[in-house]
Amino acid sequence: MSANDCSGDCPIARRVFLKDVSVFTAALVAAGLAPRGAMAAAEPVRALSRERTEVRYPIPAKDGVQFDDKNEVILVRYAGKVYAFALSCPHQSTALKLDPAGSGGFYCTKHESRYRPTGEFISGRATRNMDRLAIRRDGNAVQVDVDKWFESDSEPTQWASAAITL
Ligand code: FES
Repeated sequence: MSANDCSGDCPIARRVFLKDVSVFTAALVAAGLAPRGAMAAAEPVRALSRERTEVRYPIPAKDGVQFDDKNEVILVRYAGKVYAFALSCPHQSTALKLDPAGSGGFYCTKHESRYRPTGEFISGRATRNMDRLAIRRDGNAVQVDVDKWFESDSEPTQWASAAITL
């Protein structure tokens, strides 16, 4: 499913919308075009988007990639770590695919961005790494919070630590 297929409560559309609202409102406040109360009104919406909505996966037995289209999660085990990524490309939210070149990483068909299995940006039109979702270990499973994601450019520390070391 691509972002263009979404309507109503699509998680990709919701993520993009909520981030756009926050950025737009902050820009208005910074430019003196909106009262400070406008920023305060936007923040609860963003906070609501960060409610914990967890999905549980068994720890993958070996290195590989699992696409969970329903929850829009890409689960990766790679080089002793487990990562959960948002399915959407960080550029314009197109659903990412496995790199057809066989790199083990990911590929965006819209503007041909490529990413390593760790989500690091390699080439293309995107301007940051793939967004990582909050992940924690629970016994032989991982819990992924599909409504809590980190962007490598604005949250580098959280992005770097969003992984499970096996
Ligand atoms: S939407 Fe993926 S690179 Fe533009």
